[in-house]
Amino acid sequence: MRYRELFKRFEPYTWEPSTEQIAAQFGLKPGDILRLDLNTSPTRPTSALKSLAKRLPEIEVNLYPDTSYTSLREAIAEYTGHEFEGIIPTNGADEAIDIVSRIFLEKGSIAVASVPTYSYFRIASELQGSFFRGVPRLEGFGDDVEGILSNLDSDAGVVWLCSPNNPTGNVTPAQVVEKVCSETEACVVVDEAYYEYSGATAMPLLSRFDNLVIVRTLSKAFGLAAARIGYILASEETVKLINKARPPNSLGTINIKLAMHALKNRSYMRKSVETIISERERVRGELERLEVGKVYPSQANFLLIRIREDLRAEEVHEMLLREGIVLRNLSQNPLTRNCLRATIGLRGHNNRLLRSLGRLLRVLRG
Ligand SMILES: Cc1ncc(COP(=O)(O)O)c(C=O)c1O
Repeated sequence: MRYRELFKRFEPYTWEPSTEQIAAQFGLKPGDILRLDLNTSPTRPTSALKSLAKRLPEIEVNLYPDTSYTSLREAIAEYTGHEFEGIIPTNGADEAIDIVSRIFLEKGSIAVASVPTYSYFRIASELQGSFFRGVPRLEGFGDDVEGILSNLDSDAGVVWLCSPNNPTGNVTPAQVVEKVCSETEACVVVDEAYYEYSGATAMPLLSRFDNLVIVRTLSKAFGLAAARIGYILASEETVKLINKARPPNSLGTINIKLAMHALKNRSYMRKSVETIISERERVRGELERLEVGKVYPSQANFLLIRIREDLRAEEVHEMLLREGIVLRNLSQNPLTRNCLRATIGLRGHNNRLLRSLGRLLRVLRG
């Protein structure tokens, strides 16, 4: 069978095993598994679901959705304050990342990102035949602006910035985005998947830079990861260009309706974000009290933990798995050596993690 040379050495996206697999492996019930590895919301917008359920029989599932997604774009415009013509809804932020890559990257071109970061940037870039250059972040995980700029030659197609960054939780200041946008012809993507937790955005720069593209999602703060709704914010000109590579029907009508309800009734999202932020700060303090290692400050819905030197993150990860608690193990990446990432859940979820960790640390430290 013939296939692209690229896939002979390609490193695909990896994730923790499924809930069913973990339950079967450790003799647990799937319902007892606590997933704190996916950076999703611990609750779902039940009022949006109930309202949709009532209207379900009238939904024209026999027809394609409105390909220009007019109503959804209006709802996104109202939520963000960005112009209607500068919005493209996508099938999750991941599809936005893919579409942007198709427009701005090609075989032999260069994509640059501050690393560690969301691994799909590398994957989407390499799928276009581009070379991915990771510029290591500075102490404290800030972007190395000079390092980024020095990697931007005339073959550079995309600069990936992520704010707040997954997995480090810090924000890229608007001044950094502005500097990078003004010093390159390449497309500068700011992934703001966790925007609602930080409140910081590069949006005010959109009117000045055609090469700026912001990517967002309803998968996190809005609690709609399964609905697969993301969106692109850019200038009208840039949106016209990006639309050339967009599949015509990648969003389903049922999911569009859910997204519109969530965007128009935002008190659920606001309350959820408030709870997660206050829990995040409480958990951070408790983790420090447990002397688990270094817990980095975060403006997102997760915490990055560098496990103390005398313990191995893999071992802590595995012991938690045995108790049905799944964290993201990032320790294989040299830039996040001995690190685990924990999504913040509801108080009860977080207390379960803290209790288990406390017990494990006592066992491991003897
Ligand atoms: C930075 C970042 N961007 C995008 C995504 C994917 O978002 P979506 O579910 O909208 O595809 C994630 C998911 O974890 C993420 O962390």
